[in-house]
Amino acid sequence: MKNIDSFTHVRGESLFVDDLMLRQDVLIGLCFDSPKAHGKITSVDYSQAEALAGVVKIFTYKDVLGENQIGGIIPDEPLWAEDEVHFCGQPIAFIVAETEAIAKKARALITIEIEELPVITTAKEAKEKGSFINAPRSFKLGDSTSAFSDCEYVFEGETFSNGQEHLYLETQGCYAVPQENGTIKLTSSTQGPTQVQKTAAKVLGIPMHKIEVDVIRLGGGFGGKEDQATPWAVMTAVAVQHLNRPVKYMLNRHDDLRMTGKRHPYTSFYKIGLTKDLKIQAFEVEFLQNSGAAADLSPAIAERTLFHATNSYFIPNVSTTVYSCKTNLPPNTAFRGFGGPQGMFVIESAIADAADKIGVSRTEIQEINLLAENDVFSYGQIATQVAAKNTWFTAKETFNLEELEQEVATFNKENNRHKKGISLMPVTFGISFTNTQMNHARALIHIYQDGSVGVSTGAVEMGQSVNTKMLQVAQSVLGISATKIKLETTNTTRVANTSPSAASSTADLNGKAVEMACTSLLERLSGVAANLLSSEEKNITFQEDFVCIDGQKSTLTWEEVITQAMVERIALSENAHYATPIIHFDKTKEKGHPFAYHVYGTAMTTVTVDCLRGIYEIDAVKIVHDFGTSMNLGIDIGQVEGALAQGIGWMTMEEIAYNNDGRLLSNALSTYKVPDIFSGPKTIETIPLETEGTAMAIKKSKAVGEPPLMYGIGVYFAIQQAVKEFNPNYKLKFHSPFTPEKVLMGLYESLQ
Ligand code: MTE
Ligand code: HPA
Ligand code: MOS
Repeated sequence: MKNIDSFTHVRGESLFVDDLMLRQDVLIGLCFDSPKAHGKITSVDYSQAEALAGVVKIFTYKDVLGENQIGGIIPDEPLWAEDEVHFCGQPIAFIVAETEAIAKKARALITIEIEELPVITTAKEAKEKGSFINAPRSFKLGDSTSAFSDCEYVFEGETFSNGQEHLYLETQGCYAVPQENGTIKLTSSTQGPTQVQKTAAKVLGIPMHKIEVDVIRLGGGFGGKEDQATPWAVMTAVAVQHLNRPVKYMLNRHDDLRMTGKRHPYTSFYKIGLTKDLKIQAFEVEFLQNSGAAADLSPAIAERTLFHATNSYFIPNVSTTVYSCKTNLPPNTAFRGFGGPQGMFVIESAIADAADKIGVSRTEIQEINLLAENDVFSYGQIATQVAAKNTWFTAKETFNLEELEQEVATFNKENNRHKKGISLMPVTFGISFTNTQMNHARALIHIYQDGSVGVSTGAVEMGQSVNTKMLQVAQSVLGISATKIKLETTNTTRVANTSPSAASSTADLNGKAVEMACTSLLERLSGVAANLLSSEEKNITFQEDFVCIDGQKSTLTWEEVITQAMVERIALSENAHYATPIIHFDKTKEKGHPFAYHVYGTAMTTVTVDCLRGIYEIDAVKIVHDFGTSMNLGIDIGQVEGALAQGIGWMTMEEIAYNNDGRLLSNALSTYKVPDIFSGPKTIETIPLETEGTAMAIKKSKAVGEPPLMYGIGVYFAIQQAVKEFNPNYKLKFHSPFTPEKVLMGLYESLQ
């Protein structure tokens, strides 16, 4: 089945926030944000802006009737700054005007005086100054300190991975409409409708039932709308509360780039110890996460960095610590992989460093240390149904690694202008929200009296095709054709208290709830059908819109059963709740079983570097991926390819830059380069690993949203190998993205 949105997407008919029909009396909102990264606000003069014709009201923290607080994990973030600002782009006021042009004009008329305070932009500096979001976290396994003394080789080094802009095609935005009795309906581009509802209620000082949040779909979220869709929605809600008129606010690209947080940059210090036969015996890392000016999701992201610090390897002695460092950047936030990629980059760097210094290949060390069945992760979970080795060896074999290495060696011998590099990148990613209590979902199914079906869940469609998967689940349980089923918008009045659509877990959690609700409905309908056919309930099934007895199609249709159920006054609606079983985690011990299961895979990457200019091409990325038993291979391979492209962008060309004053320099698409069709791999091949799959995944089809992003890390090491081929004096560096400028400098550093 194709993505059910394909037709309306292609025809431009799919609805996003900006496509909504607006009420006649709508007003337009626009944020006035801090021009400075840190300081005390000594005065703001709104008088000229307020005097402008068409400006209805300018809102500040003084207009908040509830709490001026939007922090989700830690209450450390005001909706609008009060007397201090902590990052460039921090919202200070919200202009509401008759048109966008007037709002923009008004914004230019606001003057502000800020007494500047020292600005911190890097995690290192924050650590030195003791500027943190919260207390550090540490995971420990075995005894790394004593294990190092038994190691033949010990290496230490520093790595840096930069942030990443989400660049969802649809920018942040919300349309808020007053209903009756002080109720407000928000149509928001959010991954977390309940988070928007809860925060709006808190800031407005009203109960949650007075806020309805509706999400049609997002033009991409990628984590950037898990938490950071909330402020804009809350601002429009505050304005509606005061003005009782609809208010719309869509950020333009410049404002979105400047005001929202991104993937966290990390500076990390590792120490790796190996035995003579290349077994990694001990691994220590100190991760410095650049969290930005407020917590946002940083503590949860830091935690996932620790969970994935050893990637696909078993290391018996591990000690990892992460510091969430408070800086004067916009609060950084969730981004596909959620801290996992940052963790994996460090272990892969440590392995590359060790291989280089010992004089063996990186793949040799990787292979020797791959995770096996019943190995323990540093957080106490025992690895089961492990496919780390399986994907690795299948990739080597299927894609003829040996032959390819020969070809690359021959090419490199024969060419000096161009050099090729090759790498393998294994990935092991845990599926579940690391915060156990978030792993639940609900579904509400209505069968209408004509036999058509409406499915509501807490899942937000953001391009990952979760709605198509929900439809497939309902279809397979009910045994009816897809055209009878419609996926409804995600709405807090139909499905309440949802977790955000995130952690790659949306299809699993919501799909299981859909499955449960449909199963309950079917039990009732089987009774009706059995009576009509004078059979027994246990013999009844539904297939292709007909009732079957003992698997044989009868003449009784789905619609006839529904009609009879109405006559018999049987409930045709069902609500179900699913909470992931088994998982648990004890933060006081930092041990437990946080993940329902792991997703595995291995990518093989070849690149060609132009050694005159420093530019490079990705020849091929070939992947063996563990989909379990995919319920929709077209969609899942699409997720692999999209995530890979995003991972490659992060590792190679997407370079976020702030100046020392904390101002974003890469603030437009002319200064921030994302992968396009020309810079992507010339070949991408994705092969599903043959596995049984796990019952914890919906229909045994494993979560796929985030894990493949980390295949992109392989590109970094393939490029590095090519640089080293050209320049044997090149000293390995672990500082991403590996832009053509850095490649060029590497090619010619200390070259005689
Ligand atoms: N794919 C598309 N097209 N657009 C997106 O915004 N978000 C990614 C991934 N794939 C995203 C996407 C992220 S960050 C996550 S966590 C998952 O989808 C969320 O959806 P899932 O839980 O249904 O996999
Ligand atoms: N992944 C993604 N989003 C989250 C998580 C997680 O583990 N925890 C809280 N939000
Ligand atoms: Mo994804 S980063 O969990 O939204």
